[in-house]
Amino acid sequence: MESSRVTRRSFLGASGAALAAGALPRGAFASLPSPADADCIAVSSANGIGAVATARAAVLERRLRPVSAAVQGVAQVEADPKDTSVGYGGLPNEDGVIQLDSACMDGPRHNAGAVGSLEGIMHPAQVAECVMDRTDHVLLVGPGAKRFALEQGFIEQDLSTETSRKAWREWQATRKEDDRLWPLNGADPDAPWTLDEKRPWGTIHCSVLAPNGDLGCCTTTSGLAWKIPGRVGDSPLIGCGLYCDNTVGSAGATGRGEAAILSGGSWLIVERMRMGDDPTEACLHALRRVSEQAQRAAAWQPALWAKDKPGFGLTFYAVRKDGLFGSATMIGRRGGPKFSVADAGGARHEECAILYELPA
Ligand code: GLY
Repeated sequence: MESSRVTRRSFLGASGAALAAGALPRGAFASLPSPADADCIAVSSANGIGAVATARAAVLERRLRPVSAAVQGVAQVEADPKDTSVGYGGLPNEDGVIQLDSACMDGPRHNAGAVGSLEGIMHPAQVAECVMDRTDHVLLVGPGAKRFALEQGFIEQDLSTETSRKAWREWQATRKEDDRLWPLNGADPDAPWTLDEKRPWGTIHCSVLAPNGDLGCCTTTSGLAWKIPGRVGDSPLIGCGLYCDNTVGSAGATGRGEAAILSGGSWLIVERMRMGDDPTEACLHALRRVSEQAQRAAAWQPALWAKDKPGFGLTFYAVRKDGLFGSATMIGRRGGPKFSVADAGGARHEECAILYELPA
C-alpha cells in the first residue's frame, strides 16, 4: 500500500544543501513547501478521529504549534471514559491502580517531555508538555511525576469508572498463578491467531505537520491492562512510542509497547523516511524488524512467534515533512485496521497497510 499524498510539494529536510550534496541515498527532495499548497495534516490511531480534527483546527484556527495541537487533540480521548486504553477509565494495573504514560515531542526545538506511571491525573500529555516546556528534564515517573503535576496546578482525580473497576475484578477472578510471561493470562498459543483480548493495549498517538513544515507529536496511554505496578511501556519513551525530527517527519506507535521499545520503532521510522522511504514503507520496514526480533525472542518465549508470525499486535503511524502520511499494522484482515487522518479533505479513517494479512 502506498502512502497517501496531499498537495504539498515534495520536500524533506530544512538542510537542502546537505541533501543535494548526496548525504541521503534516495528519495525526492525538492524545494520548501510553498504557502499556496501547504496544508496542516494530523495523523492518529483509529481512536483519534476526533483528535486529528481538533489538532488540525488548533493549528489552523488557534495557531498552536504542532506539538501543542497534538496534545490538545488527544485530550478528548484522555477524558473519554469509554476509551479504556487512555486516561480516565483506563484499565488498571495488577493492583487495580490506573497508571498513565505519555510523551510529547516538539520538532522545531527538538525537545520532548514525558511522564511514566502517573496516577490520578487525567491529562498526562499536558503534564508531559509542562515537563518539556518548564524543566530541563525529559522524563518524570511515579510519585515525582505526580508531585510535579500537582505543582503545575493539575487536579488529582479518581480515574476509575464502573467499567474499569468491573473489568479488573473479572480479571482478578480468572487470574492465573503466574501470567507474567507471554502469552499473558494463559492465552492458548495454539488457538487461531487473535489479538490478546484479555490484556488489551490501546493508546492514542497523534502526529501533526503544520503548513510551515513544523512537526510535533504526542502519545498517551493507560498502557497494558493488568500490568505489573510500575511497568512503563513505549508511550513515554522518545524514539519508541513517538519520535519526530523537524527536518524529516514524525512517527508513533500503538500496540505491544515492549516491541516498540525493543526495536526503537518510532526512531527507526523517522530514520527510514530520512533515507527516502515514504511513511507507509517506513512503517512496514519497522514492523519487519520487529518481526525478525520476535522470531529471536521466541527462543525463550515461544508464543512471541506463533504460526509463522509475531503473536502480538503493533501499529505504526507516520507523516513526512512533504505531507505524505501512512500507517502499517503487524497483523490483520484486509479492510480491517484503520488509522485517522485530517487534512484539507477532512477528518476520516484510512486503511493501514498490513504486514501479515490474515485470510478474509
Ligand atoms: N503501547 C502502549 C503500551 O504498551 O503501554
